[in-house]
Amino acid sequence: MEDTRGRVTKDGIRIYQEADFAGMRAAGGIAAEILDMVGPLVKPGATTGEIDDFIREEIVRRGVTSATIGYKGYQHASCISVNHVVCHGIPGSKVPGRSNDVLQPGDILNIDVTVIVDGWFGDTSRMYVAGTPKPFAQRLINVTHEGLMRGISAVKPGNTFGDIGHAIQTHVEAARMSVVRDFCGHGLGRVFHAPPNVLHYGRAGSGPVLEEGMFFTIEPMVNLGRPETKVLADDWTAITRDKSLSAQYEHSVGVTATGCEIFTLSPAGKFFSPND
Ligand code: MF3
Ligand code: CO
Ligand code: CO
Repeated sequence: MEDTRGRVTKDGIRIYQEADFAGMRAAGGIAAEILDMVGPLVKPGATTGEIDDFIREEIVRRGVTSATIGYKGYQHASCISVNHVVCHGIPGSKVPGRSNDVLQPGDILNIDVTVIVDGWFGDTSRMYVAGTPKPFAQRLINVTHEGLMRGISAVKPGNTFGDIGHAIQTHVEAARMSVVRDFCGHGLGRVFHAPPNVLHYGRAGSGPVLEEGMFFTIEPMVNLGRPETKVLADDWTAITRDKSLSAQYEHSVGVTATGCEIFTLSPAGKFFSPND
């Protein structure tokens, strides 16, 4: 889809107008609202395939569009990434290391949904738990969420993208966990993926300067072990090379005059407690 709104910076980052925030708010709100509904479905014995079916039906029921169905050949309304899957887990496919897609007690999983509403993209993901998590798994989830929120706290005009990455990396590494380097956040708006690459690590003061009207995601993936990943033969599923647990949270945000607006906040206040 062509995007001709506003202007583009020398780094190729589009600057949107005040009125465009309303479009992102609507799209982000619907993505978040759908994730709010998924919690009760996530339990031992449930399958990732049936969770994705539910998400697809909720998207259809609202008369909006899934951004992932048909995207580079992807066939599903969500990505569901269980345990050592870092991202892009395929719902209905075998959980890596398992013979089926059935959730087991203590599994942790990221569910990532992107919808298109009136041409605007809303992209968000959260962690869920089947049953009760092990303490180290809960700690990974907590640190990942805190990392995202620290990154968001660095979003304001005059700061840089490096400041965002630095805020996330220092928090994660202080907890003796690692930030995935192989995947990053991205600009979005009237398109799914646009410049810049939003790195979840980096040096303070490095990278493009943030300006009011930039729209992008922040979506850190954090591993309990080493940061390296590999993509399985299905060409989508990314796992940790050392098979350590991985977690991720994602918000879509817009830079305002004084800081940022989070477009994908949970209407029900569930973002960090999605199972409730
Ligand atoms: N929602 C993912 C992101 O955060 C992208 C998923 S693309 C898919 O950018 F094709 F794997 F669904
Ligand atoms: Co994204
Ligand atoms: Co996403």
